[in-house]
Amino acid sequence: MHLQVSSVCKSFGYGPKTKPVLDAVSFDLHSGQFLALVGSSGSGKSTMMRLIAGLDRPSSGEIRLDGELIRGPGADRGMVFQKYSLYPWLTAAQNVAFGMRLQGRPKAEVRERTAYFLEVVGLVDSARLLPRELSGGMQQRVAIARALAAEPKVLLLDEPFGALDLQIRESMQDFLHRLWMQTGLTALLITHDLEEALLLAQQVHILAPRPGRIVRSVNADLDRSSLAHLRVSQPFLALREELASCLRSLDSTLTA
Ligand SMILES: Nc1ncnc2c1ncn2[C@@H]1O[C@H](COP(=O)(O)OP(=O)(O)O)[C@@H](O)[C@H]1O
Ligand SMILES: [Mg+2]
Repeated sequence: MHLQVSSVCKSFGYGPKTKPVLDAVSFDLHSGQFLALVGSSGSGKSTMMRLIAGLDRPSSGEIRLDGELIRGPGADRGMVFQKYSLYPWLTAAQNVAFGMRLQGRPKAEVRERTAYFLEVVGLVDSARLLPRELSGGMQQRVAIARALAAEPKVLLLDEPFGALDLQIRESMQDFLHRLWMQTGLTALLITHDLEEALLLAQQVHILAPRPGRIVRSVNADLDRSSLAHLRVSQPFLALREELASCLRSLDSTLTA
């Protein structure tokens, strides 16, 4: 798996009202990597996500998945959004099965994989519940199970835990980290939460806003054997402070 984002620019509007939102964004993502894009609100994160998802086209530059130009949505990219995007009239299990049904997989296989992925996200006992009967964190785990069940090459997460309370967010970060360790998935996390990015991602790109562009890239080679320890460890805190001051300086140049 190789996702290549090359000199991607995106503007909205025409003529004098043209608004550049992404400016020459380039990065690579390889199999098994966990990459994060961090930027404040309005820095073009969701726009980038939509371009990779194939829901919109770059104004210039290109995005390739295993060498193929992305021309539209596809099952090779699994998406999880901030807003719980489950079908409210389907149970947790039916939501997980949904993408596989669309793929036309045999019924027995769909049943088996649904059970497997519900177990992976720890929701076997909630299989028959409707989304409104589940907590926010549980709904996001169903959304992750649904995305993974379709066997995407890459999991794309756009502020997946942004709507959750702090405590639940931390347990979801632990969950996603374990999932990454256990399944070797390839993930792109898009977030405004620097701490979340550093906890989970091996590589972090910082996006400056208006227009969105990568101003800093760091390899976050940290000991992730325990996220609880990592959260209070010196190398983690030092890196977080350094990048936080980078983000603050971006904000102050905007307001100056
Ligand atoms: N379809 C659109 N038409 C016009 N402007 C848009 C559109 N989509 C996004 N934008 C603008 O692009 C900027 C970046 O938005 P977005 O990608 O949602 O940022 P983020 O996800 O980082 O908060 C915002 O100023 C937003 O108003
Ligand atoms: Mg967004």
